[in-house]
Formats: sequence, structure tokens, C-alpha cells
Amino acid sequence: MIVLVGFMGAGKTTVGHLLSERLGLPFVDSDLVIEQRSGRSVRQIFAEDGEPAFRELEHRVVADLIDGPEAVLALGGGAAEHPETAVRLKSAQVVYLRVGYDEAMLRVAGDEYRPLLRRPDLETLYRRRLGVYDDLAMLTVATDGRRPEEISQDVLAQLAEPAPGP
Ligand code: S3P
Repeated sequence: MIVLVGFMGAGKTTVGHLLSERLGLPFVDSDLVIEQRSGRSVRQIFAEDGEPAFRELEHRVVADLIDGPEAVLALGGGAAEHPETAVRLKSAQVVYLRVGYDEAMLRVAGDEYRPLLRRPDLETLYRRRLGVYDDLAMLTVATDGRRPEEISQDVLAQLAEPAPGP
């Protein structure tokens, strides 16, 4: 199981599709599965039930996906902050797509479907998550100023490298 983590705008969905094609594995986006299961958009869930309810639903969905069939799995930017999700991710190959704050904001500017973009403390949230992603990552790939194709090739090259010895 290859799991892509990183902040909004890191390119998890785009790079995930490319990786899934190259590896011959299905691509799964946790936000889409949440929307299919609940019959509502992420934005609606946030608006109607609040963020804590979204996080619980997200945790249950991600737990099922991690235990499910082999895939390239892109997680919503906040999913890795759930402590039980973090524990489960220890059994996966976690790839961190790192994006700088300014570049992330440029990439997602004006997106109506990401409710967190309206948070006044978004940059603080971004900084807090850097450590979370770092701790979980088996490998980290910088994405600023790079095209998705180049990023996915970098991920594949690093996945193919032998694991460091004891
Ligand atoms: C979120 C990121 C979104 C989505 C939701 C919350 C977050 O996914 O799960 O809006 O907490 O950062 P992307 O990272 O795919 O944008």
C-alpha cells in the first residue's frame, strides 16, 4: 500500500493517478470515498456536521482503505493528524509530497470545495502538520516548481532504492 500524504495543494491526487498507472495499482482518494459513503460533499459534511464529525468519518474510511486491497491511496491533508490513523500508517509505505505554504496557496486559490481554506490560522495549521508528515514518511519528495510527471518519477525512483541496512 502506497499512501500519499501532504498539505492541500501538494498534488496528491494528480501524482497519485500517475503512480497508479505506472505501478498498475488502483488509485483511491480518501475524500472521494468519504463522499461516496456519506452521499455528501466534504464541504457539506463540514458545514452540516462540523469538522470533528468529518475527522471521525475520515478516520473510519482511511482505516478501512489501509486494511483493504493494495492501492495508491491519497489522503486528505488532515487525515494523518488522527492519532489512530497515524498508528495504522506504520504498516504502509508513506510518501510525503512536500509543498511550501505560498506555493500550496497558489495551487488551491479560490477553491470552494476546501472548507479549511477559510481558516484565519491556516499557516499555523500548515506548520503544525509539517512535523506530522515528516514523522510518518518513509520518503519525502519536494514538489515546489516541479511538474507532476517529474515528481512521480522521483517517487518511483526512490521506492525502487534498496532499504537502508540495519
Ligand atoms: C483537508 C484537506 C482536504 C479535505 C478536507 C480537509 C485538510 O483534502 O480532506 O477539505 O484538513 O487539510 P486535500 O488535502 O486533498 O485537499
